[in-house]
Amino acid sequence: MPDAYSIRAAVQADGSFLGDMVVEAANWRAGGARARHEILTAVEHRRYVTGWMRPADAGFVAIDSDESPIGAAWYRILAQDDPGFGYVGTAVPELIIGVRPVWRAHGVGRALLRRLVVHARSQGHSRISLSVEHDNFAKALYRSEGFIVTESGSVRDTMVNRMS
Ligand SMILES: CC(C)(COP(=O)(O)OP(=O)(O)OC[C@H]1O[C@@H](n2cnc3c(N)ncnc32)[C@H](O)[C@@H]1OP(=O)(O)O)[C@@H](O)C(=O)NCCC(=O)NCCS
Repeated sequence: MPDAYSIRAAVQADGSFLGDMVVEAANWRAGGARARHEILTAVEHRRYVTGWMRPADAGFVAIDSDESPIGAAWYRILAQDDPGFGYVGTAVPELIIGVRPVWRAHGVGRALLRRLVVHARSQGHSRISLSVEHDNFAKALYRSEGFIVTESGSVRDTMVNRMS
């Protein structure tokens, strides 16, 4: 049974852990087992962590009582000519989130999401976007935190939180 956790701001040294969370997100489906190397060398995934941490990047890391990272939510502002799955416009941050399997369904993801949205607003952003596959339960989590579907593809939805 997981123990207590806390949340801290992400720092440059978290890049490798954020890579782990990109792998968790890409492998979210039960039985998903694409290799870390394969995922993190694929352009559509590596753009979420390459060169972490840039000036416009921001994120939060959840840590357990030993200060080991257990989950993270972060955003990047991706370029129009190198867009993420959830790109909606110039200068709109795109969110990525992942929690280690043993810690899921304990409130960590929602807590991280809330911290990141509050931070994005404090940085002057009026929107934050993400991409989620249709059948991922995380979609209900995002909806309950104020995200709405703005574009629906064959596999993924783009969701946006207008943080006014
Ligand atoms: C999606 C994810 C980040 C959510 O984090 P989490 O810590 O597990 O989520 P929380 O515990 O905060 O739960 C949030 C809500 O989702 C629900 N939930 C959690 N796990 C669930 C599951 N397996 N199936 C259905 N609902 C679930 C919870 O009941 C909760 O709702 P509630 O507050 O109304 O009870 C995490 O599960 C994860 O890393 N999943 C794999 C990677 C992934 O899918 N990333 C997102 C890609 S878009």
